[in-house]
Amino acid sequence: MSTGTSFSSLVSGALIAAPMTKGSNLPFRLLCMELGARVLISEMVVARRLKQRKRGEFALIRRAPGEPVFGVQLAGNKPEEMAWAAALVESRQADFIDINLGCPIDHFTRMGLGAALGRQPGRVRRIVEAMKAAVKVPVTVKIRLGWKADQLNYLELAKAAVDGGADGVFVHGRTREARYRHPADWAAIAEIAAAVPVPVVGNGDVLFPHDFHDHMAHSGCTAVMTARGALIKPWIFREISEGYWEITAEERVTIYRRYVELALSHWGGDDYGRERVRDFLRWHVGFWCRYVPRRADGSWPTMQQREVLEHPRSPLEALLARTDDPALDYVTDQLLGGGDLSAPPPVPEARPDTRRDMRDDPVEAG
Ligand SMILES: Cc1cc2nc3c(=O)[nH]c(=O)nc-3n(C[C@H](O)[C@H](O)[C@H](O)COP(=O)(O)O)c2cc1C
Repeated sequence: MSTGTSFSSLVSGALIAAPMTKGSNLPFRLLCMELGARVLISEMVVARRLKQRKRGEFALIRRAPGEPVFGVQLAGNKPEEMAWAAALVESRQADFIDINLGCPIDHFTRMGLGAALGRQPGRVRRIVEAMKAAVKVPVTVKIRLGWKADQLNYLELAKAAVDGGADGVFVHGRTREARYRHPADWAAIAEIAAAVPVPVVGNGDVLFPHDFHDHMAHSGCTAVMTARGALIKPWIFREISEGYWEITAEERVTIYRRYVELALSHWGGDDYGRERVRDFLRWHVGFWCRYVPRRADGSWPTMQQREVLEHPRSPLEALLARTDDPALDYVTDQLLGGGDLSAPPPVPEARPDTRRDMRDDPVEAG
C-alpha cells in the first residue's frame, strides 16, 4: 500500500514541473531536468484514448531516460476505466498518478472531464478509490478552487479525494472561469493545506525563486509547482538551488539550442522529425519571448503584468524580446538551422497584437 508519506518523500521541497498539454513534451522535460527539475509530470492523458490504443496517447506516458520522478496525469470520469489506465501507466514506470480535475476546455468539460468532474466530489472519491485499489504508487488529484467565484468547492473536493484515499492534492489557485485573469489565491491554497492530512502542492504564478521560497515558507505546502514559469524560463529550476540567475541573452540562446538538440534526437532529423521539432520549437519560442529580468530599480516582474523590456542590454536581447511573427519565425528558423541570429527581420509597423491575449490566457491550459 502506498501512503501519503511516500508521495511526500517523492516531492517534498521540490519545484515541480506542472502537467502541460504540449508543454510537457519529452525533450522539454529533459531540458528542465538538465536545468535541475527533479519532479516532472506528463501532459494530460485521456484514459479512454489509452483504452482505444491510440498511439499518440501512449507517447505521452513515456518516461524520459533518467527522469528522476515522473508523474502521469490522467483524465477520465469512469472509475473502472481510470483504474485500468492507472494500472497501465504504473506498469510503464510512473512514480505517481494524478487525476485532472481542472481542465477548463469545453471539449473536455462537455464530456464530464477536467473541471466538470471537479464539480462532482462524490464521483471523484469513487474514482480515487478504484484507482487506489488498482495500483501501489501514490494517486493524487489536481484541483482548481471551483467552477467560478460563487461556486467554490475546494475544501469539499479535496476532502472527498482524501476520503477516497488520495495521497496528495495539487491545487491551482484559480477557478475555471477565471482562467489566468487574476493572481492565484495562495490563501485558499494554504487553507487546503491546513485542512487535509496529506501533502498539498500549491500552484500559480511562480516565476522567480522568491515566489517559490515565500510559498514554501507560508502556505503549508509540501512542494510548489510551476507551469508558465517553466515555459518562459526553464532555468527557474536551477534558480531554486542556486538563486536568481541574471542570465544573459547568449546564455538563454545556449539553453534554447539545447532544446533543439534534445528535440531533434527525440523526433529525428528527417523531414518528418524536423517538421515536428519546428512546430514545438515555434510554440516554445512564443513563451521564451516573454522573459524579462529583474527591473533596473531592483523590483520583480510578476506573472500578472505583461512587461515590455525597456532597455535591452544587447541587440540579441532586443530580438529575443520581440513578439511579432516575423521575429518569432526568424528565431525559430535560426535555432533549428543552427544560424547565428545576427540578421533579424525589420520590426513590423505597430499594430494590435491579438495573439498576446491568447498567450496570457492559453485556451489549452488545464
Ligand atoms: C500550455 C499549458 C498547458 C497546460 N496543460 C495542462 C494539463 O494538461 N493538465 C493540467 O492539469 N494543467 C494544465 N495546465 C495548467 C497548469 O498545469 C497550471 O495549473 C496553471 O498554468 C497555473 O500555473 P502557472 O501559474 O504556474 O502557469 C496547462 C497550462 C499551460 C500554460
